[in-house]
Amino acid sequence: MTTTPSSLGPKRIYIQEVVTRDGFQAESAFIPTEQKIALINRLSRAGYAKIEVSSFTNPKAIPMLADAEAVMKGIERVAGVEYTVLIPNLKGAERALSVGVDEFNLVMSVSEAHNQSNLKMSREGSFQGLLSVIDLAHRNHTAVNISLSTSFGCPMSGITSLSELMHWVDRFADVGVRGMTICDTTGMANPAQVQAVCEAVQSKYPQLQWTLHFHNTRGMGLANALAAVNTGIDRFDSSLGGLGGCPYAPGATGNICTEELVYMFDLMGFNTNMQIDTLLECSRDLQSLIGRTLPSQLLMAGKVDRLYAAPCQS
Ligand code: COA
Ligand code: ZN
Repeated sequence: MTTTPSSLGPKRIYIQEVVTRDGFQAESAFIPTEQKIALINRLSRAGYAKIEVSSFTNPKAIPMLADAEAVMKGIERVAGVEYTVLIPNLKGAERALSVGVDEFNLVMSVSEAHNQSNLKMSREGSFQGLLSVIDLAHRNHTAVNISLSTSFGCPMSGITSLSELMHWVDRFADVGVRGMTICDTTGMANPAQVQAVCEAVQSKYPQLQWTLHFHNTRGMGLANALAAVNTGIDRFDSSLGGLGGCPYAPGATGNICTEELVYMFDLMGFNTNMQIDTLLECSRDLQSLIGRTLPSQLLMAGKVDRLYAAPCQS
């Protein structure tokens, strides 16, 4: 099935920003809390469905996000935008509840090696721990999403099989979660694999909210997003300017770039609900904030209506 815009009106695509979590977590120079809050407040007015504000992880593991409570408390929450946070364990969930979030985004890896490296425990240990977190969320009327890292491949154990991924999808589908995010943590997916995975999860669990999370490590990020849309997927994580990467995955690089993802879908006639010019302004300012050029090719080249002077003929 190809889901392109039709006479019924443009198909809606939901964009979920991860720059202040996935993007910032690997940066070495601490970004001040006020700057994080200011960026999220600007992004909140750009049309996102969801913003992943921070993570409630061990501050010793991710010092950049040690200010998660202050950031959550400091932002203006705009109606229509969901504010989510990444949570690895019960302690993180209790911290998130103390400031109030719209969703718990719980994380574990499909690969045993990555789970050990990232979360310092076995997959089974993570799963059992997350069951208590899900129970806590439900008692507090908070929605739960599960992010399954290394769903397509792991830099330490190779390609992830569909059956291994489905094993963890099946286990979480049974415990009352709202949705799951299929994460290509280090950009190992290709469009054919994406198509197979997206068809499998949606046909088995059509009632769940599915998100795809791609990294552009091998240049296939936007091709993968398009392959996902063509199976009916309508939610994507992406990062402003393409900043990002897991500090516990060798060779990790940035997420797919929000402004490029949005611009591709806008040009194709989808309804992203996003303000592309606001994104470009925020991305440009983010370059100044982190002090280096971001991998956004759209930021470099400009939109397609940007005209250039003709080269000199001398
Ligand atoms: N928030 C704050 N503190 C936490 C915490 C959390 N979510 N989880 C654990 N801690 C603290 C404990 O209270 C304990 O503190 P103490 O030394 O003062 O007693 C200390 O951390 C060690 O606790 P432990 O249960 O042994 O956890 P750990 O050190 O093995 O950490 C993780 C496990 C998963 C919490 C940690 O590795 C982590 O946060 N990793 C980050 C993963 C991540 O975000 N990766 C990138 C995105 S995919
Ligand atoms: Zn990621």
